[in-house]
Amino acid sequence: MNALPKTIAPSLLSADFTDLGGAVRQIEAGGAAIVHLDVMDGHFVPNLTIGPPVIRALRKVTSLILDAHLMIEAPERSLADYIDAGADMISVHVEASPHLHRTVSRIREAGRRAGVVLNPATPAEAVREILPHVDFVLVMTVNPGFGGQRFIPSVLPKIRQIRDEIATRRLAVAIEVDGGVGPDNIAELAAAGVTIAVAGAAVFGSGDPVAAIRQLQSML
Ligand code: DX5
Ligand code: ZN
Repeated sequence: MNALPKTIAPSLLSADFTDLGGAVRQIEAGGAAIVHLDVMDGHFVPNLTIGPPVIRALRKVTSLILDAHLMIEAPERSLADYIDAGADMISVHVEASPHLHRTVSRIREAGRRAGVVLNPATPAEAVREILPHVDFVLVMTVNPGFGGQRFIPSVLPKIRQIRDEIATRRLAVAIEVDGGVGPDNIAELAAAGVTIAVAGAAVFGSGDPVAAIRQLQSML
């Protein structure tokens, strides 16, 4: 499989839910390669969002890479639904999945990109064993659950630590960040090794999402 592209991944969480198709067209027009989809179950995080039916609907209207960020308990139970819905990248939280190796292996066996996600309080060491078995690590730069939160700068050393670990072990693992990403911190994140930057409020909370994506894309 090709390497994952270096790109902004606009999060539909901050888009107009009555016009998700329109939001996807803006993402295409802005030149981003990945659409970030925040799946929340009201248990692992205190919020409830979208699930497989919405991903399936989006799959019909775009060929962009669909990135399903599963903020759900026991993701292994519903994994098949996200695969069937057409998600290209599927990530599970290390805090939510005790049998991580089995879970990421199932994602890869289905021909999709597997990722593991770390909450801000979870150390880099939590991915040491799983690193050779994943395509990307998603480092949360806010506590998951809501869009529009403030970036937590103390997570930056952890991103560099994971980058160094990947380089030392010569692995092909991309680093994605999620939460509070915008023009003020994107250059620093790129310098720390980030190649996929999720942005919700900075894109869809701006007056001109297409221009915002282009600007962030150029800064990455
Ligand atoms: C937070 C979600 C994020 C969120 C990011 O739980 O995982 O993807 O949409 O939104 P911003 O960029 O607004 O922090
Ligand atoms: Zn997310």
